[in-house]
Amino acid sequence: MQRRILNFGSMNIDHVYTVEHFVRPGETISSLEMEVFPGGKGLNQSVALAKAGAEVYHAGKIGKDGNFLLQLLKSVKVDVSFVETINGYTGKAIIQVEAESGQNSILLYNGANWQMTELFIDQVLSSFSGEEILVLQNEINLVDYLIEKAAQKGMQIALNPSPVRDDLKNCNLNCITWLILNEIEGEALTGEKEPECIADTLLARYPQMKIVLTLGSQGVLYCDSEKNFRYGVYKTQIVDTTAAGDTFAGYFLACTARGMTPEEAVAEASKASAIAISRSGAAVSIPTREEVLNSNLELA
Ligand code: RIB
Repeated sequence: MQRRILNFGSMNIDHVYTVEHFVRPGETISSLEMEVFPGGKGLNQSVALAKAGAEVYHAGKIGKDGNFLLQLLKSVKVDVSFVETINGYTGKAIIQVEAESGQNSILLYNGANWQMTELFIDQVLSSFSGEEILVLQNEINLVDYLIEKAAQKGMQIALNPSPVRDDLKNCNLNCITWLILNEIEGEALTGEKEPECIADTLLARYPQMKIVLTLGSQGVLYCDSEKNFRYGVYKTQIVDTTAAGDTFAGYFLACTARGMTPEEAVAEASKASAIAISRSGAAVSIPTREEVLNSNLELA
């Protein structure tokens, strides 16, 4: 059985500058290239979920300048009935991608992503039964309210606490089933640096959680009350790491929604994100499930 997914999340217009090095304080540099892509952790994860074969509903807000984001979501068969277009600007991201390493640094403008209201959230949630999985990141306002209301409906919730901000303290993490995060987010939430210590600390605090800790070139650590395993990375050529985490989260949750084991879900998600980082851009770099299943990538 495949469970439906509601992703309540951000949508951004990404301005991506390829640079020799990240611009330093007081410095002015020229970029090697500039491209505009659809992005936002919410949108990227909806695209990954849909490309991985999930039935996805995206809820969120854009300005009139964001119509092409809607077109992209529709083109991969994401239901956009719960996306509202408001007066004002769509969220934006200025992304520097370092040419040699493919690493990125991201500056956000919240725009429409910060215009969620309790009324809007209540209206969207009233269209769902509670059987669905709710997917959240931390790029919209009222994430704490969303968690509270979705949990009251009995929805299982997956949270990617990215970017980590102080307001996460207002969120009731006891209601989270899947926490998908990287080491930086793990350290911010626990004060621990070592992956095993991050996972142990989170599990001690929130025993119901299934923790998926992505470790960049060190792979992934999965941990819940019954299982604990590591998974490596696939060999790939790194072009642009933007949306690697979003691709992983979307694929992991789509696999989980169709009943695959955590081991199977982590393996497929790792392969999908290895393909994504071999391409430029965020949402547009996410592979289809066919590409993932037919790829002959090898573990490093
Ligand atoms: O995770 C990558 C995303 O972060 C980019 O698409 C950018 O919009 C920011 O939200």
